[in-house]
Amino acid sequence: SSARKKLVIGNWKMFKNATSASSDFSDFSNLIASQAHNIEVGIAAPSVFLADLVRKTQNSVTLYAQNSHWAPEGAFTGEVSAPMLKSMGVSGSLVAHSERRQMFGETNETAGARVGALIGAGMKAVLCVGETLEQREKGQLKEILKQQIEKAIQASGIKHASEILGADPLRPLLSIAYEPVWAIGTGKAATSVEAQEAHAFIREVLSNCFNKETSEKLKIIYGGSVKLNNIHEFISCPDVDGGLVGGASLVPKDFYDLCMKCC
Ligand code: G3P
Repeated sequence: SSARKKLVIGNWKMFKNATSASSDFSDFSNLIASQAHNIEVGIAAPSVFLADLVRKTQNSVTLYAQNSHWAPEGAFTGEVSAPMLKSMGVSGSLVAHSERRQMFGETNETAGARVGALIGAGMKAVLCVGETLEQREKGQLKEILKQQIEKAIQASGIKHASEILGADPLRPLLSIAYEPVWAIGTGKAATSVEAQEAHAFIREVLSNCFNKETSEKLKIIYGGSVKLNNIHEFISCPDVDGGLVGGASLVPKDFYDLCMKCC
């Protein structure tokens, strides 16, 4: 629905160094700040760079971490918590990206606990879901998406829709990113028909978890080989509210051009 503001987030994954992260982020936020637009733009950067980048956002780019822990503090060597991120001025975090599910033991339960910690701290959570090629071919798309969302919301401890809506009706605290695993970094994006089908189903699941009105307010963004030349096709779908962009977010001017296609 047109009532939902478009959301585009660049996921830098484990790329760049202190120098390039700093200058690329400055270049990108300068470009975004120079242009009047009606979209919400974010970058999910490696956590070591966030303290530097947070000073350069010019309020035009929302900063996200790529992961955050479920406990506020404790004996968790190597981890970063939601309150730590918040204290630095970071707005939120991605949760349960498929790379974390595949390589770092993320489950729907740990994903949910991370979402709960972020929302509890008044921060944004972008919960990533999506099926593998094998699951799609076995006809398990809907079952997988349903489990990933329902189990995470259950584990988050979120009881009332009001908790995820936050203060600004155009910027709810919870968003969902649909990233079919087979489309990530492969250059083989889903078709807009496949994306719309999955997004409409996700909205139905959210409606069952909360209520219809809330599900209409939440943003569901698509990720997986989003590029300058296909983003428009995706955001033209009624239930696709933006993009989560990996490779095509790394060069500032290119990512800026892609964002401007969403205005
Ligand atoms: O989180 C975004 C990502 O997984 C998609 O990566 O490189 O296919 O745009 P890419």
